[in-house]
Amino acid sequence: MAKIQSIRGMPDVLPDASAMRLWVEDRLKAVLARYGYAHVRMPLVEATALFARGVGDGTDIVEKEMYTFEDRSGESLTLRPEGTAGCVRLCEEHGLLYNQTQRLWYQGPMFRYERPQKGRYRQFEQLGVECFGFPGPAIDAELLGLCADFWRELGVQEALTLELNTLGSPESRAAYRDALLAYLRPLADQLDEDSQRRLERNPLRILDSKVPETQALLADAPDLAACLDEASRAHFDALRRYLDALAIPYVVNPRIVRGLDYYTHTVFEWTTTALGAQGTVCGGGRYDGLVERLGGRPTPGIGFAMGLERLTLLVEAHGAAPAEAAPLDVYVLALDETHSAEALALGQRLRQALPALTVQVHCSGGKAKARFKKADASGARYALILGETEVAEGTVAVKPLREGDAAQTTWTLPALIDHWREGLPSPSGTDVATRR
Ligand code: HAM
Repeated sequence: MAKIQSIRGMPDVLPDASAMRLWVEDRLKAVLARYGYAHVRMPLVEATALFARGVGDGTDIVEKEMYTFEDRSGESLTLRPEGTAGCVRLCEEHGLLYNQTQRLWYQGPMFRYERPQKGRYRQFEQLGVECFGFPGPAIDAELLGLCADFWRELGVQEALTLELNTLGSPESRAAYRDALLAYLRPLADQLDEDSQRRLERNPLRILDSKVPETQALLADAPDLAACLDEASRAHFDALRRYLDALAIPYVVNPRIVRGLDYYTHTVFEWTTTALGAQGTVCGGGRYDGLVERLGGRPTPGIGFAMGLERLTLLVEAHGAAPAEAAPLDVYVLALDETHSAEALALGQRLRQALPALTVQVHCSGGKAKARFKKADASGARYALILGETEVAEGTVAVKPLREGDAAQTTWTLPALIDHWREGLPSPSGTDVATRR
């Protein structure tokens, strides 16, 4: 029968790659803990309307990338393509925004029906941060400082550039949209197909078109900075001063507009040239109107999300390498199946008494020779052996596996636990006493 394969763009993560990912995630979590951010978990599935209204009808995500289906009662549901809208819903539903500020983070898979390539998947994982209730630019700077600390922790700070822009208040953004439309409409038939489609629905997105002819047409486009109102300009200027105070380098890129509709004021992307076409490792910005748009009271919000696959690829290429996975310490085996229960119990008692030890118990049957072969192949430093005699006497035989012909010794379990309590002897140490 034909084997069933994984779904295109939804990759498996095998043990070595997963060990690397876990290491990256642990480092990120350590930084988040230092900043005192609280963790939340949203469901993978939300009402479709949440994204249509939150992310925006005119965005690529909502227009053509969502996994949307009807459940058995006919309700339209969507696998979340991003986390911000769900996080706002969670906060509103549970009263987290009532007269309080929040600094939250989440992690998990997102789903977008995009064309898969290196660094771009249909199921990918994001770690995201969202803060609510902070109108001033200090939190914008805190979030960018948090990102910079992530990169330092992972050793990739040199490989990432912070690209920063402001879209201004909703009014500034609307004024700019009008100016841009007035400029682009007469040029419509010279625009690429995607940009023509975006012209009336989402003209700001044309600014980050990758098509060279379109970019050339944009050379004389009106400047967003010229449409900023006083308060928007002041917010951005203050943020830039804070970034200087934090010694975080950045470039202002007026073409950063982001692909989701909810942004106002600050927007940013951390980009790298090390990953080919999918160079945006992290993106985010302020979304002061989103809570209200989703039915809540006006509440300022700001956040970002990073793609963990892209970040891990970058760490592999540039970053600090995680320490080699520690080899197994102990492999427990009975000489035959009769004493499997004693072997399992021995493994369990060792793990409970010495939690720092890694202990595996032989579970795959076979003759004594095959069992020793498995013990050797496991990479463990010691085999703990239970035969007829050991079980009868209440002892265990300890055989060093990585010390040449070091002798096997016999121990009672309490004596062995005592002996190993301060850690295993250094590999070259002799360990040959027989204790009963
Ligand atoms: P986004 O720019 O759509 O923003 O995604 C953030 C990051 O997720 C990207 O920079 C990229 O690293 C990663 N990413 C996106 N799509 C894919 C994909 N198909 N395959 C692999 N990685 C991908 C958001 O999602 C916003 N919710 C961020 C945010 C939070 N803004 C404010 N708060």
